Amino acid sequence: MRLFVAIALPGEAAGELDEVVAPLRPAWPELRWTVRDAWHLTLAFLGEADEAVIAKLAVRLERAARRHPQMSLALAGAGAFPGATRARVLWTGIQGERRELGLLAASAGAGARRAGAPPATSGQGYQPHLTLARCRAPADVSSLVGKLADFAGTPWIATEVHLIHSRLAAQPRYEVIGTWPLRGALGS
Ligand code: 2AM
Repeated sequence: MRLFVAIALPGEAAGELDEVVAPLRPAWPELRWTVRDAWHLTLAFLGEADEAVIAKLAVRLERAARRHPQMSLALAGAGAFPGATRARVLWTGIQGERRELGLLAASAGAGARRAGAPPATSGQGYQPHLTLARCRAPADVSSLVGKLADFAGTPWIATEVHLIHSRLAAQPRYEVIGTWPLRGALGS
């Protein structure tokens, strides 16, 4: 199973982003745009994992989530990997409690490793982002990055993490298979 750990986007944040992104899509049919319902912030991409590790993952991710506080996050601006003039991925960025988000991502990755499902991305720096589009061939998306530069979404409080099963297709389908709460304001 192809698995990843992620934070979901509240409807309001997704709606604001969609308002800005939807008008941009028609002029760029060569990009594979992600759809609103699939938007999420990846904490750790585990890649292919055996179904047998899910029970262990549940224990580890529950523990990891509980060690980290709820955090304020907001979508903002845009950028591209590996760069705007030869982009493979167009993204919007994350503002707010980015340090806490990075610590949570590290814990989720470490927990997954201990569960026997090591992140496929370990060793690379964590760059929080939400993927807006993927490019079939490297593309110059500088003008798109420019149009999205001033986007600043309303902050929200992230309260939980999800383990998600990804089924690859023209438009990948994501199924939440586990949800665990971050530490609450009262330390719950
Ligand atoms: P992306 O948004 O940067 O493409 C489901 O596919 C999630 O896992 C996506 O958020 C995707 O990140 C991430 N993902 C998929 N393949 C990946 C890989 N090889 N390395 C890192 N993250 C990956």
